[in-house]
Amino acid sequence: MITRRGFAGLVAAGFTEFAFAQRSAVDSMNVQAPKGTVWLNANEFPEGPPAAALDAIARAAKESNRYHFTEYPAIYQSIASIEGLKGDQVLVGAGSTEALHCAVEAFTSPKRPFICAWPTFESGPELAAAQGHAVVKLPLTSDYRSDVRQLVAEAKKAGGGMIYICNPNNPTGNVAPKQDIGWAVRNLPADTVLLIDEAYFHFNTSPETESAMKYVKDGKNVLVMRTFSKIYGMAGLRAGYVAARPDLIKKMAPFRNLQISITTARAVVAAIDMGPKLVEERRARLIRTRDDLVAFLKQKKLNTIESQANFVMFDTGRDINQIGPAMLAKGVAVGRPFPPYNTMMRITIGTDAEMAKFKAALSEVLSV
Ligand SMILES: Cc1ncc(COP(=O)(O)O)c(C=O)c1O
Repeated sequence: MITRRGFAGLVAAGFTEFAFAQRSAVDSMNVQAPKGTVWLNANEFPEGPPAAALDAIARAAKESNRYHFTEYPAIYQSIASIEGLKGDQVLVGAGSTEALHCAVEAFTSPKRPFICAWPTFESGPELAAAQGHAVVKLPLTSDYRSDVRQLVAEAKKAGGGMIYICNPNNPTGNVAPKQDIGWAVRNLPADTVLLIDEAYFHFNTSPETESAMKYVKDGKNVLVMRTFSKIYGMAGLRAGYVAARPDLIKKMAPFRNLQISITTARAVVAAIDMGPKLVEERRARLIRTRDDLVAFLKQKKLNTIESQANFVMFDTGRDINQIGPAMLAKGVAVGRPFPPYNTMMRITIGTDAEMAKFKAALSEVLSV
C-alpha cells in the first residue's frame, strides 16, 4: 500500500498516475469507504476484458519466463491496424499516460509550454510542471469548450509548444466541435504540436465532432492518444498508445520506459482480433445506462452537461467538497472536486446495480 508520504514522493517525481490521484482524493475525504462501496470515481468501464483476452492472458502467463522481444513488432502493427496505421505511426505505452509522458518530454520545455483549457485531464499539465516545463491553462468557455483561437495564440506567443485538447473532455464529457479542431490544425504555429486525447472517443456518437486520426494520416503536426483502459475494460492491464507521423514518434520514443508486459500485449491483440463489434456492443450498453442516468438527473432538475463519454458531470447546487464525502459515507465514491466547478459532480457510468445505489444515495444526500 502507498503511504501518504510515498504518494507525495511519487507526485514530486512526476508519477502523477491518475488512479493514484483518484484514490488519494478519496483518502483525503477522511471518510472510511464502507464495505461494498461502488467505485464511480475513476471513469473505468464496468465490464472487464473480453473472454478471449482473458484466455490470452492465461496462455501468456504460462510462457512468461521468456522476454518475447521478437513478438512486439507484430503486436504494435496489430494496435496500429485498428485505425489503419502502420506500426511506425504508433508509440505504445503502459496506459496512454505513458505516451502522454513521452509527448510532454519531447515537445514541451521551460520555454515551450504545455497549453490546455482547464479543467481537463490533469496528468499532462502536472507532469510538465513537475519537470519545470512551462504550463498555460486557459479557462474552458462558458459552454465547456477549449477556445482554440486562444490556445493557438498562446503557442504563437511562446514560439512553440504543445496544445492539448481532450475530446471528449474529462471531466466535463462534452466534445470539441470538428470545426474547432480543423481550425487549430490549419493554424498551428511553427514548432507546435497538437495533442488530441481521445481516451473517451469510443463512447461518442455525436456528429458534432470527429476523430483527429485523419490529421495523423494527412501527416500534420498532430498526435492522437487512445487507451485500452476505458471501453476495452483493461485499466489495470495498462495499455494505450499515441498515433503520429513516424518522425514525431521517433522524437517521443527515447522517453518511453519499457515495453508493456506480454500478458497485456496478448490480451490487447485478442481484443483487437474480435473486431469493431466488441466496441460497438459495449458502447451501446454504456449509452443505455448513461441515457437512463441523464433522464434521472433531469427528473431531479439537476443541470447536466451533455456527455459523450462514460461519465456525466452535473450541478449538485451544493459544495462538492461536502457532497463527495457524504456520498462516500453511503458507499458511493464519486469524482473528486474539479475547481472552479465547485458545485459540480462527475460520476462514472457503472453497472445498473451500481447506478441504482448511486441514485438512492444522491436522492438522500441532496434531498431531491
Ligand atoms: C482523458 C484521459 N486521458 C488519459 C487517461 C489515462 O488513461 P490510461 O493511462 O489508463 O490509458 C485518462 C484516465 O482516466 C483520461 O481521463
